[in-house]
Amino acid sequence: MQDWYTHQARDLPWRVPPGSNATPDPYRIWLSEVMLQQTTVAAVKAYYAKFTEIWPTVHDLAAAEDAAVMAAWAGLGYYARARNLLKCARAVVTDHDGTFPRTEADLLTLPGVGPYTAAAIAAIAFQQRAVVVDGNVERVMTRLGAITTPLPAAKPEIHALADILTPEDRPGDHAQAVMDLGATICTPKSPACVLCPLRDACAGRKAGIAETLPRKAAK
Ligand code: ADE
Repeated sequence: MQDWYTHQARDLPWRVPPGSNATPDPYRIWLSEVMLQQTTVAAVKAYYAKFTEIWPTVHDLAAAEDAAVMAAWAGLGYYARARNLLKCARAVVTDHDGTFPRTEADLLTLPGVGPYTAAAIAAIAFQQRAVVVDGNVERVMTRLGAITTPLPAAKPEIHALADILTPEDRPGDHAQAVMDLGATICTPKSPACVLCPLRDACAGRKAGIAETLPRKAAK
């Protein structure tokens, strides 16, 4: 999986190259992860470029006018995220001396930072072994483990499998590898199993049900 990521990782503006010793900027990881909630990578890129140009540090963003941030966010949707973005930047500056906290538990205390975002920042920005589960990861895990329990009841099983697979070494690269796998190969329809680094381990593929997973509870 890490080998696959080293060679196939998407080149995204907030990433450091896989396996490199470059230290990601927690501010930029946080900003990108908040933007990526409910929004596609393609849509986020231009906004990420704009925000980091206007507000290159958390101090700059914390000092911004509310209206300027809301205007820059226009078009991304889910505007509560933009309001929380500012609240969070200000909390980091006033309560944490301008430094993002490093642990999942401390990150969770920040405005707008939920379990997914806290785990993603801990793993990607601080190389902490955190279990990162978003929609892409849910799809990959249900297929890999042939988990036929429908969502949302399947969440504990999904988390347990994701936990087993999360390594001590380069947990941030691992998390992003699973996300990239879900975005590029283990896609909702017609997954490209022949290209998948996990194809031989995939119980869903073996059972011929990969494409039908994850199941969703009838509404
Ligand atoms: N979706 C949310 N966060 C992501 C990331 N860091 N890489 C790829 N896709 C993502």
